[in-house]
Amino acid sequence: MLKSLSLILILNHLTCLAIISELEEDDEIVGDAGNHVDSWSMVQKKGNQFMLDGHPFYEASSVGLSVWAFNDGQWRVLQKSPNVYDEQVFKGLDFVVSEAKKYKVRLILSLVNNWEAYGGKSQYVKWGKAAGLNLTSDDDFYSHPTLRSYYKSHVKTVLNRMNTITNITYKDDPTIFAWELINEPRCESDPSGDELQAWIEEMAVYVKSIDPKHLLQIRSEGFYGASTPNKVQFNPNTYAQQVGTDFIRNHQVLGVDFASVHIYPDSW
Ligand SMILES: *[C@@H]1O[C@H](CO)[C@@H](O)[C@H](O)[C@H]1NC(C)=O
Ligand SMILES: *[C@@H]1O[C@H](CO)[C@@H](O)[C@H](O)[C@H]1NC(C)=O
Repeated sequence: MLKSLSLILILNHLTCLAIISELEEDDEIVGDAGNHVDSWSMVQKKGNQFMLDGHPFYEASSVGLSVWAFNDGQWRVLQKSPNVYDEQVFKGLDFVVSEAKKYKVRLILSLVNNWEAYGGKSQYVKWGKAAGLNLTSDDDFYSHPTLRSYYKSHVKTVLNRMNTITNITYKDDPTIFAWELINEPRCESDPSGDELQAWIEEMAVYVKSIDPKHLLQIRSEGFYGASTPNKVQFNPNTYAQQVGTDFIRNHQVLGVDFASVHIYPDSW
């Protein structure tokens, strides 16, 4: 029936996207009482392959079917201030996860956005300023210990969230295919890439310390950086190697299980 479906839904500091469907042509959609759901297990990684119940699992998301559900004026914020949440919005996310489980659709949940339009790292900086920190750039999100602790606190809350509909803790729910550290990270204030690299190293280990079962990715745009000077020619433009990211180096970090790249056919 449903072969593949992508949906993007942003709840302020939490993005839910790249829905992956495993339904085959003749599959029935089975509800809570069905066997399919009962045998719903965690996607894992073995070598270079995703595995499900000992068999290769192929991601079938389709960028063309993405639905962005955040820019409709119905905006509601999940995290109102550091570690303060709107329970109704969280229940909305619970519902999305529970519906995905019901229809055998896997979700990738992203834990923060680089871009200001959806809250993102600049919101963390605003919170830090409001708390009296001397912050000069949105990139302080990556370097300032207090902002790192805000982010970690958010990660901990989401991963330990008990879904109010399914009663399954997010970190134990196979419906979640993977976590993403941050949507399209850039740290332009440090073109060497060291600052973002250090942030990724710290946060990847932190996510895995709470949830060793789920897969993890960064969700970077995919620009080559200083570690691969012979490859930067393949970037969409020369600016791409100056935004503080390094596709190869970033993805060698302990705890990062897979990579994705973003392709915008109209621009690169
Ligand atoms: C704030 O930080 C900037 C950059 O690190 C520094 O130049 C400035 O002196 C600091 N201001 C205060 C009041 O500490
Ligand atoms: C979740 O827990 C509540 C409270 O214990 C219970 O009423 C409800 O039936 C449970 N739901 C499921 C799907 O297990």
